[in-house]
Amino acid sequence: MGDRKTFYITTPIYYPSDNLHIGHAYTTVAADCMARYKRMQGYDVFFLTGSDEHGLKIERAAREKGMDPEAYVDQIVAGFKVLWDKLLITNDDFVRTTEKRHQKVVQALFQKVYDQGDMFKSDYEGWYCTPCEAFWTERQLVDGKCPDCDRPAELVHEESYFFAMSKYADRLLKHIEENPEFIQPESRRNEMINFIKSGLEDLCVSRTTFEWGVPIPFAPGHVIYVWFDALANYLTGIGYGEDDSNFNKYWPADVHLVGKDIVRFHTIIWPTMLLAMGLPLPKQVFGHGWLLLEGGKMSKSKGNVVDPMILVERYGVDAIRYYLLKELNYGMDGYYSEEMLVNRINSDLANDLGNLVSRTIGMMERYFKGVIPAASEPQPPDKELTDLARETFADVGHHLDRLDFSAALSSLWRLISRANKYIDETAPWILAREESKRGRLGTVLYNLTEVIRVVTIMCAPFMPTLPGRVNQQIPLFGDAEKLDWNDAGRWGLLASGIQAQKGPALFPRVDPKTLDEPQEPVPAAETKPAVSQEQELITIDEFARIDLRVAEVIEAEKMKKADKLLVLKVRIGEEERTIVAGIAQHYTPEELVGKKIVVVANLEPARLRGVESQGMLLAASNKDGLSILTLDRDLPSGCRVR
Ligand code: MSP
Repeated sequence: MGDRKTFYITTPIYYPSDNLHIGHAYTTVAADCMARYKRMQGYDVFFLTGSDEHGLKIERAAREKGMDPEAYVDQIVAGFKVLWDKLLITNDDFVRTTEKRHQKVVQALFQKVYDQGDMFKSDYEGWYCTPCEAFWTERQLVDGKCPDCDRPAELVHEESYFFAMSKYADRLLKHIEENPEFIQPESRRNEMINFIKSGLEDLCVSRTTFEWGVPIPFAPGHVIYVWFDALANYLTGIGYGEDDSNFNKYWPADVHLVGKDIVRFHTIIWPTMLLAMGLPLPKQVFGHGWLLLEGGKMSKSKGNVVDPMILVERYGVDAIRYYLLKELNYGMDGYYSEEMLVNRINSDLANDLGNLVSRTIGMMERYFKGVIPAASEPQPPDKELTDLARETFADVGHHLDRLDFSAALSSLWRLISRANKYIDETAPWILAREESKRGRLGTVLYNLTEVIRVVTIMCAPFMPTLPGRVNQQIPLFGDAEKLDWNDAGRWGLLASGIQAQKGPALFPRVDPKTLDEPQEPVPAAETKPAVSQEQELITIDEFARIDLRVAEVIEAEKMKKADKLLVLKVRIGEEERTIVAGIAQHYTPEELVGKKIVVVANLEPARLRGVESQGMLLAASNKDGLSILTLDRDLPSGCRVR
């Protein structure tokens, strides 16, 4: 076992200034998905997370609650651990920066860098952003505010130790340029290259105006800068200075998965610290996007934080993990709303995946007393299905290897949709009418079960309780907790003769009407403008991927038993399509017929209350109303909108 390939993945360590929200959960869920995937591939995985407990930000948060920092962080960190348990996070260790083992590492590193002459004492005069725990020069501030978080910075003047970061700038730049994988995605890499090229200053690495930190052993009154302290957790967790064989086994880390706001700390401060310490650099720092609300960032002060604990209880851990991993496209921001979450649960999970399993088992019970039949000679649609299963296995692996969780899921869902279509094409209920077609019927059901088997394996890193739940209905796996990833690439592995039995729906549908009133976006005056700098900029090519068209509404009616939905028939050039739109509280069907509207014509179809919606209309809305987009001058339907 000693020569198994290793994989070391980390999350950032979270500030216990408050409870974690759904955005924080994203990083840890994504890292967990990756750790599970690698374990399923046979890697010896080490997955680390933790808490970043020192610094002014935490000290102030504790004092505001009238508590000692120790007592305060203990209570919040206990909550982190409960959340990770609920989200089925399989971390191998959890580093708290207040632990002795970590303080020893930080002090040893500080001393080492000092002893070799890379630290010097000087006066620091500059700006400090406490929420980001970041130093800024006057020139870097934007209107006196932190360029990262747009909050006011404080002027600091104190005696400090400095780390000679600038000395390592050239080596770092060379490393980044020679190793394109070191910073991903590409856009973040370019940002960092520009940042370094604009000139690296030496870094202030100690503070004297508060006490909540790791003391510098040789300089009473100084505590070590919280980022110097925090970044070292990646070494503590695998036994730096304590357990050399473990440390050497896992270092350098394969991936530090971090949010886009802290890429700079991980790709400039951290690697220069490592260069100074003479340690190899991590293989990759991956900066993912943020999960935003429609009103912008989630924050305590706006009162709009979304509690992941409540969501897991309400919708189940698999659904929440699926939503998070699907929502954030590679390195880009994504949006959260409970309505979108429920839509995904109903369309992707209940409808596509859940129905595939329940329809297949239902037919197996009806036609074969629940016993999985054997396959015989393949026919054309079988080959298409098995080829796609093979391709999907390769694609999902490829996407996961580059941490593109959303693309991996889209690829998996193409296979699920293809399998649902295969049911309609092969029409087992017609085959069942003739005894002579029994062999064919058996092949169809065998193939469907095979799709379920390979899909379940590939879903396992995303939705860890799924294999066990599927297994209760079709015992596909000896041990649903220990699946082999490569089995998903082996079509035909399933033995016939297994007894299946229908159980409860894998993903019960959620009635959108049971949703709480959606959270209103915060009024504009209290927040940033709707188009904020937190949003990622996209290129014109990315925009061009959205096929916007003029469509003419030719029929409209209310969806039965749904207060908010209208079903529209629209014409886009020659083509007719059905669109389900949540505008029934703002428009009557009569008002719409004859209108020229704008629709997204290349959106994946989605089922809403059993009706397939083949596009989406554009509308503007706020808390006072909703207005669909129409044309200012008459043009034929089908025209492109850009
Ligand atoms: N303590 C530092 C990290 C030190 S790592 C050596 C820190 N902590 S944090 O609690 O503020 O943030 C932790 C992680 O959560 C960061 O990667 C951050 O990007 C991520 N997120 C915070 N809000 C988020 C969203 N709304 N969406 C996605 N990730 C978000 O920074």
